[in-house]
Amino acid sequence: MLIRRPPDIKPSEITPRGLYLDRRRFMLAAGALILLPGAAGAALRFDGAVKTRWGEGLDVTSVEDATSYNNFVELGSDKSSPKRNAAALVTRPWSVTVEGECLKPGALGVEDLLAPHPLEERIYRLRCVEGWSMVIPWVGVPLGRVLQRFEPTSRAKWVEFTTLHDPQRLPGQRRAVLDWPYVEGLRIDEATHPLSLLAVGMYGDELPAQNGAPLRLVVPWKYGFKSIKSIVRIRFSETRPKTTWNIAQPDEYGFWANVNPEVDHPRWSQKKERRIGQFFKIKTDMFNGYASEVAHLYAGMDLARDF
Ligand code: MTE
Repeated sequence: MLIRRPPDIKPSEITPRGLYLDRRRFMLAAGALILLPGAAGAALRFDGAVKTRWGEGLDVTSVEDATSYNNFVELGSDKSSPKRNAAALVTRPWSVTVEGECLKPGALGVEDLLAPHPLEERIYRLRCVEGWSMVIPWVGVPLGRVLQRFEPTSRAKWVEFTTLHDPQRLPGQRRAVLDWPYVEGLRIDEATHPLSLLAVGMYGDELPAQNGAPLRLVVPWKYGFKSIKSIVRIRFSETRPKTTWNIAQPDEYGFWANVNPEVDHPRWSQKKERRIGQFFKIKTDMFNGYASEVAHLYAGMDLARDF
């Protein structure tokens, strides 16, 4: 769509976009609570995130490793290219649409989407299906709390998440390596489980682009590919959503993707993992160490069939 500028505004009166973004960034960085006219919500205060008990006793992965060894195919196919290509992913402004089986659908900026819930810091393990893992201090809000305000109906059995589709900002989407945009899904009780986190930050600061800025999912008891990055749409649905890796290779990547040392991936054993930054491999725990919190969600399911 071509949007024309009214002829009575002189070019010199228009604030260049870069300057506008810098000003807004400055307001956010200063933690200013003054709302600009028409501005949506208060800035996110990463330094004030509430500390939680999650992750006590775990050695946190270095910020350098967590931000330079990434899977984000939209920013490149190997581990180092997401960081190299991160500048392409401009994340302001950003809006997230929440729709489908709910009474109050809407489109909101990230700050508004999370308000009024306090940000929490949660140190979670992240286990990739490729056999490596990290321990990351995420900053975010439990997903269930965010979903509540949209008032899902009784038909909302599943929740689908969609990544931004924009080959300018996500240059990896210029190549058809996956079916774009990246989509993921959870059953509603998984999505509203207190462990599921909608993250906006890590290591006390906002998310770097390569880690899924400005907003990503973190589902710590599932393989990393469920933790979809750079989300623009959340949809409640009555039917199970399709998921990107399952579409690409259904015999290798299941919908459920619960971490399970007893069920090997066709190409990788899942019994052990290499914690990035450590020398010796360690044993992989059922549900990635969160069995006491989540095992009941799968009671009666055959986890070898529903992998
Ligand atoms: N989300 C999108 N949109 N695109 C991706 O390629 N990769 C997934 C997941 N989320 C991916 C994604 C995979 S395979 C993993 S292991 C985690 O992101 C990695 O998250 P990290 O780079 O922050 O460690």
